[in-house]
Amino acid sequence: MSRHPLPVTFEEVPAEVVARHSSRGFCYKKKMVRTVPGRFSLSEAYLKLADAHYNFEFRSSDVVLLSYPKSGTTWASELLWAMMNIDHLDSMEKKNIHGRAFYLDKDFAHPIPEEDLIRFRQKLPDAKAEEGVILQLAAAEKGPRLLWSHMPLLLLNPDMLNTCKVVYVARNPKDVCVSAFHFISKLRFEGLKVYQGEFSDFAEVFMDDSFMMMPYWEHIQQAWQQRDHEHLHIMFYEDMKKDLMGELRKLNLHLMTGLTEQQLRQVSEAASFDRLKSLEAKMPIFKAVDGSFFRKGQTGDWKNIATSELDIRMDRWIQEKSRMIGITFQYS
Ligand code: A3P
Repeated sequence: MSRHPLPVTFEEVPAEVVARHSSRGFCYKKKMVRTVPGRFSLSEAYLKLADAHYNFEFRSSDVVLLSYPKSGTTWASELLWAMMNIDHLDSMEKKNIHGRAFYLDKDFAHPIPEEDLIRFRQKLPDAKAEEGVILQLAAAEKGPRLLWSHMPLLLLNPDMLNTCKVVYVARNPKDVCVSAFHFISKLRFEGLKVYQGEFSDFAEVFMDDSFMMMPYWEHIQQAWQQRDHEHLHIMFYEDMKKDLMGELRKLNLHLMTGLTEQQLRQVSEAASFDRLKSLEAKMPIFKAVDGSFFRKGQTGDWKNIATSELDIRMDRWIQEKSRMIGITFQYS
């Protein structure tokens, strides 16, 4: 396949935006860049891998999961993996999802964990880590791959949608905001806390749409605009919570996995919240967070933490932004 030039340039996130984040509790000081156009904020580490990431070659046997962070990606990835590996569900007990699937943004989103480096050195002794540990491990995998990314469609290989099956998971912005607050409050990078502030401050930064992987709305909009593409299936976290079997049946058709009702039930049980949490106790999936990655797994937690004043502000923001997309989210 031919290489594609990146469709954006980059600028440093302006000092006044960084200062706003700091004044509201962000303490992690690594430089952020953002795309022009699009204003997608990314860590500076992305720049070195941008071309390789953008030109990552997808295959027709791949399944790609996309989402804005904290939208239920881990749950969806476990469901997809179980559907693709129905005869090997016991592997879930042996390796966590990072050992069974590939998070394509991991090379620049987080410091690469030691276990990935060990796997990389064993499998690709001559390869250079600075050219992307996960990107190269994924490229070297021969069988059908499950790959996931939090990047917006704008920053993914334009051949991807025409090449393989893609699933996009979306979650309502109120619960994404709550989930992101708890996650970021528990997160440490290089031993340092990333966020030490109040929820109300965090929500203001969220509505500013200017931290990592934001803007939220454009991320969803780019997938929503492609919703009629035959290779794209959009799924909502709230629907998964309400009727998981119904959503699995749709996925079964989309992926053409041909699973029986009984097998779909097995899939839903294999990736239930309690099951994933108990597996995590034996094999942490994200060592950079203090405590469990699996927090509540519910819809509507926003109402337990937001003041009525913040709720009004958030509703206004949602009304203004969702108009440009035409999506109505469920909040309970
Ligand atoms: P909460 O913080 O609201 O509990 P991501 O994987 O995109 O980071 O999303 C994380 C969110 O998905 C967290 O939400 C997490 O608890 C929830 N989640 C993970 N596994 C789940 C499951 N099996 N069922 C329901 N929610 C799940």
